[in-house]
Amino acid sequence: MITFNSKQKIFHLEGQGTSYVIGVSPREDFHHLYWGKSLSSKSLQKILRDWQKRAIETEHHISREFQTREFPDFGHNDLRAPAFQVKQADGSRVSEFLYVSHSITPGKPDFGLGPSSQVEDSDQVQTLRINLVDKLKKQELELYYTLYPQRNIVVRRTILRNKDAKPISLLKLMSSSLDFAPGPYRLVRFPGAWANERKMVEGPLLPGTTRLESRRGISSHEMNPFTMVTRGEATEEKGEVYGFALAYSGNWLMEAELFRTGGLRLNAGLNDFDFEWQLKPGENFTTPECVLAYSPNGYSQLSLDLHHFTREKVIRGTWQYKPRPILINNWEATYFKFNHDKLMKIAKAGKEAGIELFVLDDGWFGKRDNDTTSLGDWFVDKRKLPKGLRGLSDDIHGLGLKFGLWIEPEMISPQSQLYKKHPDWCLHVPGRKRRMARSQLVLDMSRPEIRDYLFDTISKALEEARVDYVKWDMNRSLSEVGNRVLSPQKQGELYHRYMMGVYDLMDRLNRRFPRVLFEGCSGGGARFDLGVLSYHPQIWTSDNTDGLERLFIQYATSFAYPPIAMGAHISSVPNHITHRSIPLKWRALVAMSGNFGVEADISKWSPRDRKELAGYIRFYKEIRPLVQFGDFYRLESPYNSLQTSWMFVNKTQTEALLFVFQVKPWTKGTKVPPIKLRGLNPSKTYEIKGEKLKISGKKMMKVGWLPKAFRTARGNYHSSLYRLI
Ligand code: DGJ
Repeated sequence: MITFNSKQKIFHLEGQGTSYVIGVSPREDFHHLYWGKSLSSKSLQKILRDWQKRAIETEHHISREFQTREFPDFGHNDLRAPAFQVKQADGSRVSEFLYVSHSITPGKPDFGLGPSSQVEDSDQVQTLRINLVDKLKKQELELYYTLYPQRNIVVRRTILRNKDAKPISLLKLMSSSLDFAPGPYRLVRFPGAWANERKMVEGPLLPGTTRLESRRGISSHEMNPFTMVTRGEATEEKGEVYGFALAYSGNWLMEAELFRTGGLRLNAGLNDFDFEWQLKPGENFTTPECVLAYSPNGYSQLSLDLHHFTREKVIRGTWQYKPRPILINNWEATYFKFNHDKLMKIAKAGKEAGIELFVLDDGWFGKRDNDTTSLGDWFVDKRKLPKGLRGLSDDIHGLGLKFGLWIEPEMISPQSQLYKKHPDWCLHVPGRKRRMARSQLVLDMSRPEIRDYLFDTISKALEEARVDYVKWDMNRSLSEVGNRVLSPQKQGELYHRYMMGVYDLMDRLNRRFPRVLFEGCSGGGARFDLGVLSYHPQIWTSDNTDGLERLFIQYATSFAYPPIAMGAHISSVPNHITHRSIPLKWRALVAMSGNFGVEADISKWSPRDRKELAGYIRFYKEIRPLVQFGDFYRLESPYNSLQTSWMFVNKTQTEALLFVFQVKPWTKGTKVPPIKLRGLNPSKTYEIKGEKLKISGKKMMKVGWLPKAFRTARGNYHSSLYRLI
């Protein structure tokens, strides 16, 4: 429920367990008053009394830097990082936007192209729009807050409108900005690298500005566009946690400025680095969305809210609530070296093991025998597939499997027919060298004619081959970001125009092929974000399929993103990246904790391994609804426990799955603590299948339980899955 108290001039956004309060000061400036646990009216009044005193003082003789502000402007007496910056026609960068009006409406407006969280029940969801005006310059700002009360989530975005008679440039416009009262605060970030995505790094916020960002044109391996701020230390079950997740896949910024007062400003949105957007009279600019989540009870509650929100409001289309098929992908099995028969052999072995979908990865088009050629030539390579894609697809379908295809639409190989024909279609700065990465250049996705070419050629391939699934890859960062089409003044718009062009193509292909399941991918997980999830219901988590590495990657990814979104495959050993050999059971249990699949030529596996795999696949089919749509709880962290454990619980709490992985071998004298389960019904007695054990939910959660196998587990890679009913 969102309310405005016209006497006190405050907005109160009340979720089921949260309050977010904004106040309009006597001089029509916006102050952030509170975000946290639901407020009683008594505590709200106390906050208001304190604020009113402070607000009046500020208006008269104290700098605005001592206020906790909401969406602060720049150039007056608050010199902390602003939420926006406008360059006026006269060159001035100072602006002053003041409150003029607001509206509170059911549901959420349509903001046009780009990722946008959905509303099904507009009785529940409301949007607050606050209108601010810079009277001198006739510019208008609109701040949007959509409240999803059941998940305690507020989705923010901003629009700037130029109503002046002169053009302006926008140098910075955040989706969300607010000031927290003095802390202590800590920050959790998720940095990484290729094959090593999203490591959880937690630590105190130090004075000064911490910029988490991407300048690579993609959300990046290096840092994920999700961060958490905690007030003091937090654990899975305790502590105040604030989450910020950007629904954007290009250059992004989270800017945390810890000021000398101890107060913290958190700005989140498009990166202002190398950004400049021209607005002619009458034009406007809309930012991407930022999803704000709050938990008074530690990380776990925050993750649960974000998982539900992502499944219910971000992921959309045919596959939103559909169990995802178990796939087999030929990448690690063959790389570029395959032909029709070899693929059929893998598919047949897959079918025998119970697989549901066969995915043909990179190398099916042009003359792509390695990664130096053919991107952009989306025509089948008849040398490898003499019966064409359709012939292969028919044979795969004939086995009773669905057929999936890999594409990398945003790229062009200099060695390609497309490049010969259109050497100016890649991002480039005239006269400068075009730097390659993985021997490829990036298509200028801001240009509609390039998107049309891609839409037509890709649609043709998907249609002809009766494709059921698409893996959309993207294997390099952007460089030489320039083009000849935009005017010199508009070159600073290109990164964002690129990203909006990508969303446009995703959107068109989604509409054209509503039943096709799309999986996002970017050299593994370099574009794992809510932006991609708005168009692609699942994402390839990492090229690293080593079972132990994956434990860390999937563990950290789960802080923001639900297991159904995480592509997780069993591959062969020794692992293609780490060269480590981990037992099949462990690899299977890690993969079964996400969106399960296989990435191997299992026709070469021993009959024993194939039988074991078939068993896991059979079992996953039984537990799939629970893993893909249940509540996920992290119990023990791979970072600091002897073992890692996590669990899934169904909606009615009648069923649960406990996964345990022994990360470090037990040594004599070490006392392994019992695993405290979560999310169970305290008054239900659960039977642990195969253990001849019955324990109450209450005991499982309060006292915990340590499976016998993990009490003194020596040696390597013990893992188990326990089913509770
Ligand atoms: C990177 C992806 O992450 C891999 O799974 C595979 O599709 C390769 N690209 C193919 O080039």
